[in-house]
Amino acid sequence: MKTFKHKTILITGASSGIGEAMVSLLRDPSVKLLLVARSEHKLQAMAEALERQGVRAQAYACDLSQPGAAELLFQRITADGHQVDVLINNAGVGKYGRFDQISLTDTLEMLRLNIENLVALTHRCIPHMLERGDAGILNVASTAGFQGIPYMAVYAATKSFVISFSEALYAEYAARGITVTCLCPGPTATAFQERAGMPVEGMRRLMESPEKVARAGLRALLRGELLHISGAANTIVARLSQLTPRRMRLAITRQLLGPADDI
Ligand SMILES: NC(=O)c1ccc[n+]([C@@H]2O[C@H](COP(=O)([O-])OP(=O)(O)OC[C@H]3O[C@@H](n4cnc5c(N)ncnc54)[C@H](OP(=O)(O)O)[C@@H]3O)[C@@H](O)[C@H]2O)c1
Repeated sequence: MKTFKHKTILITGASSGIGEAMVSLLRDPSVKLLLVARSEHKLQAMAEALERQGVRAQAYACDLSQPGAAELLFQRITADGHQVDVLINNAGVGKYGRFDQISLTDTLEMLRLNIENLVALTHRCIPHMLERGDAGILNVASTAGFQGIPYMAVYAATKSFVISFSEALYAEYAARGITVTCLCPGPTATAFQERAGMPVEGMRRLMESPEKVARAGLRALLRGELLHISGAANTIVARLSQLTPRRMRLAITRQLLGPADDI
């Protein structure tokens, strides 16, 4: 896929952070943007602002942490006459804390948002993409997906899933006209950390802007990259950590992320 022009682009997590930055970069009179998140008023305001700028946009308020949410969303989109050419699976949440101290409800909602509904939406969108033959999927994972992350165990595992899933789809569909790219941001200055309840002291100076990450991801998709780590520093850290023995890198991560009273 060489251009976003004349494409219908669905983007989850469009209401803030990296997703909102992607929406801004994708503004073009030739595209149609389908904006998905829970914040109905924010999405509606975004869609109206885009329409005023001559960009076709429609808001779909939807809680993708609920069972069957992707299926219902797809039915609404289809009923409105849209067919998705580019799917950006960006919505995601993290939860910080010791595994047993995070509620099972929160954990299962995270699994449904970060994995289950991402897979379901992708599954529903692919048939039209195969017919069109010039389509793309951008999955937003994380550098957290390259290893186990103590105190973010389930989040990191969901992102490992997204990386593995994206790689396999890349191989299945590259010759069939669908580019599948996995974007792995490192720490990014969005609402993510606060929502996850993460300690951010000392991390802020390492953070990239959501605009930079969004631009890197969209470019990577157009270049047909399999996996893109945003930022040179994140790329170096990710590569070095792959060379570090597992126990050592777990101990380092635990030291960095663990609570002060960690034993
Ligand atoms: N920020 C980082 O440091 C960082 C690093 C690596 C990877 N990432 C990944 O980047 C992606 C975007 O996160 P961000 O940093 O831009 O954080 P963010 O500002 O918190 O944005 C998250 C987006 O997901 C939406 N969302 C959350 N829960 C949802 C739900 N149940 N149903 C539908 N939409 C939901 C949010 O909208 P509503 O609240 O309106 O629903 C929002 O639009 C995530 O997949 C995250 O894992 C972030």
